[in-house]
Amino acid sequence: MKENFHKKFLTGENEIAKVLIPQNRLLQRVSELGAVISQDYEDKDLAVVAILKGSFIFAADLLRDLTVNATIDFMSISSYAGQPGSGVVRITKDLEESVTGRHILLVEDIIDTGLTANYLIRILKERGPASLSLCALLDKSARRLIDLPIAYRGFDIPDVFVVGYGMDFQQKYRNLPYIAVLRA
Ligand code: IMP
Repeated sequence: MKENFHKKFLTGENEIAKVLIPQNRLLQRVSELGAVISQDYEDKDLAVVAILKGSFIFAADLLRDLTVNATIDFMSISSYAGQPGSGVVRITKDLEESVTGRHILLVEDIIDTGLTANYLIRILKERGPASLSLCALLDKSARRLIDLPIAYRGFDIPDVFVVGYGMDFQQKYRNLPYIAVLRA
């Protein structure tokens, strides 16, 4: 069953053009990031904040690679209709725990223009964390509109639309265990 499902994706019978990052490279890079983050946050009160839905699989794998005490909380956002590309987002689900005085690691699936992450950083900083660093699995750096410090970056990718490993196209393809490029 599983093999048939994946064969369908990899033989061009659908919207997937090619695999950009295979599962083994993804998992290896995530565990490298986990090791570096664990070193940097040793003895710190680490609050991982993952942005839904796109980062849920990355955050789950990353958390399992952390060897420090960490909590995880989720925030869900959607763009304001009528203001596309403004970076102003509506929080549709807020954090459940306070982050005041804690070390926030903001986990994003992909940084494109940077406007969303920039907005999230601004509102989270208003809550008075001890520190805030950004961790992004993918960086489409060629499309950046705003300068953003990405402390932990998985891969720099070209300007293509990607799906899989939590990321979607019209809510589909989040379940692919690799990062794939959609057919243009
Ligand atoms: P930004 O505000 O332009 O940086 O957009 C960031 C958000 O747009 C990400 O968190 C994703 O939800 C979405 N996004 C940007 N590029 C892609 C892509 O190639 N595939 C899936 N989602 C994307």
